[in-house]
Amino acid sequence: MPDKSSEAIGIIGSGPIGQGLATLWAQAGYMVQLGARSPESARRVSVPPSVRVVSFEEAARHKVVVLAVKHSAAQDVVDRLAPLLKRAMVFDVMNAAGMREGQIVSALPEGRTEGQWMAEMLPDSVVVRAFSHIQEELLVSRAGKNLGVWAVGYATDALEERPRIESLLEATGYVPVFVGTLAESSLLDPGGSVFPHLFTAGDLQHLAAVHRLPRMLERFNAGDMSEVLHDKVQWSFPYGPTLGVQETFIGKEAVVDHLRRVRDSGVRISDIRTELETPHGAVVHAEGVFPTAQGPIASEIVSVVTMKGGLIGEVREYWDTAAIKG
Ligand SMILES: NC(=O)c1ccc[n+]([C@@H]2O[C@H](COP(=O)([O-])OP(=O)(O)OC[C@H]3O[C@@H](n4cnc5c(N)ncnc54)[C@H](OP(=O)(O)O)[C@@H]3O)[C@@H](O)[C@H]2O)c1
Repeated sequence: MPDKSSEAIGIIGSGPIGQGLATLWAQAGYMVQLGARSPESARRVSVPPSVRVVSFEEAARHKVVVLAVKHSAAQDVVDRLAPLLKRAMVFDVMNAAGMREGQIVSALPEGRTEGQWMAEMLPDSVVVRAFSHIQEELLVSRAGKNLGVWAVGYATDALEERPRIESLLEATGYVPVFVGTLAESSLLDPGGSVFPHLFTAGDLQHLAAVHRLPRMLERFNAGDMSEVLHDKVQWSFPYGPTLGVQETFIGKEAVVDHLRRVRDSGVRISDIRTELETPHGAVVHAEGVFPTAQGPIASEIVSVVTMKGGLIGEVREYWDTAAIKG
């Protein structure tokens, strides 16, 4: 665990987020050094008196460092400070945000998360993605209110460091919610289902589970979905009867058995992606390959999935029956 009295937190970037995090950790009793780009920038800072305002370089010389500069400057700043950040725990709060058709999207290349991008630049550091989804106006004001209610989502590949990470995050007044590895953290990035909102810990946990749905559903191909299904799961195939398939299966055992039989008949799914993620569920699209008398046919599958307790609770699965009949 980090020792508040001897371990300082260095924050690189003295904008509203850097100042907000410096305030929260200082209020929790941590020694904080806030890195400002220039003496002029340092003069604009408003933080508790215990926070020392230093240079970016000085702030980077700590075991725990936060990167909070404008994203367009991130690569230059990180390249310059990388030798100092070796072996440090680095919290990346930065967002590469763009706009497309009135919607916020990630400006990183498709399929790449901010956390992965940072971990590639800092292979010898423990990279943690956090605070990206909490807006500056709320960061400090919400932290102390309704303690134990508002959550900060975080992601890391260093699973063994989770207790230390959580103790640092808890000190800010937010409830830490682990959403997955850096590769799984797109929900925290611009365009993700969590961005840029505050959630209760329960809702954030549910959103993280919904975000894992594609990986849960991939288990179909391995022939056993029991670990990801709720005991009282209900799985319906509204068009099933037209293909001679029972319409609804109720309960884990019945669903697992049916899905295994379907899988053993040669059906496979791929390219699973979610839409409309909410804490309650999502619409899932997948590419299905179905065996037919004329050979395998590829056809889209669309499922409306509702979660229960972080597991798959109810599914309504639709196929193109005309295509599958051949
Ligand atoms: N604002 C939000 O609600 C929010 C929420 C979550 C995450 N974030 C992310 O957190 C990071 C910090 O955001 P912010 O709102 O606090 O302020 P910001 O304006 O995005 O960044 C402020 C910091 O970046 C430095 N900076 C600007 N241009 C630079 C350059 N060319 N080279 C080096 N440093 C440069 C600034 O130095 P000077 O003061 O000298 O200009 C300042 O220290 C951003 O990446 C943002 O995407 C923001």
